[in-house]
Amino acid sequence: MAGSGSNMKNIWIIANWKSNKTIAEALDWVSKVGPAIPKRDGLKVVICPTFSCISEVKKAVTVGNFPLMVGVQDLSPFGVGAYTGEEPAKLLEDYVNLAILGHSERRQNFGETDEMVAKKAEQALANSTIPLICVQNEETPVPEDCKLVAYEPVWAIGTGNPDTPQNAADVAKKLKQKYGGELQVLYGGSVTSQNVKSFVSQENIDGVLVGNASLDAEEFIKIVKGCEE
Ligand code: 13P
Repeated sequence: MAGSGSNMKNIWIIANWKSNKTIAEALDWVSKVGPAIPKRDGLKVVICPTFSCISEVKKAVTVGNFPLMVGVQDLSPFGVGAYTGEEPAKLLEDYVNLAILGHSERRQNFGETDEMVAKKAEQALANSTIPLICVQNEETPVPEDCKLVAYEPVWAIGTGNPDTPQNAADVAKKLKQKYGGELQVLYGGSVTSQNVKSFVSQENIDGVLVGNASLDAEEFIKIVKGCEE
């Protein structure tokens, strides 16, 4: 999406902490990263901590008035009710803006199917939460009304072996052709401060989803600054 009156597109930089960080570590990260993020329209920086850290992270972001959004790494496919162990979107909406859904680690380790991803996306959309759908390629289905997608090839995750910016941009373009121009497509898989610019400078890539390199506050600040150069 172009910014008003200019050709500036949104840039999403999303930190997926996966199953890492205590509350104290999370708050330390927010206290370092929060003040370092430039405030500008179109720069959308999101932290996705574990469920146990979410309320504390949200409080720290709000008190510091930092230009950071908070997200979750998963959601219940159901609403509130008798669903032991699940975290429904309805109870999270005061804390989060976005939900990562269908990550390959959930599909591999927890048997998540396209059908479950679609139900989770429905819950997100019904509770003012932006669904971020993770796909392997342009064949992975994107549920209806979802406008934010992350292309994350499994072989590039945590390997230090990212896809090429050209190939990632090609997949992003195919997804936009399939689902329409307002779809925004992020790239994820071994993104670092060294290579981030090569991805976000591609016309069809609207940001990055970062795992390992998001855990270190200094490295994450470099990633954000790398996009701004
Ligand atoms: P890495 O950045 O550690 O490769 O992880 C990518 C990822 O899975 C983000 O969701």
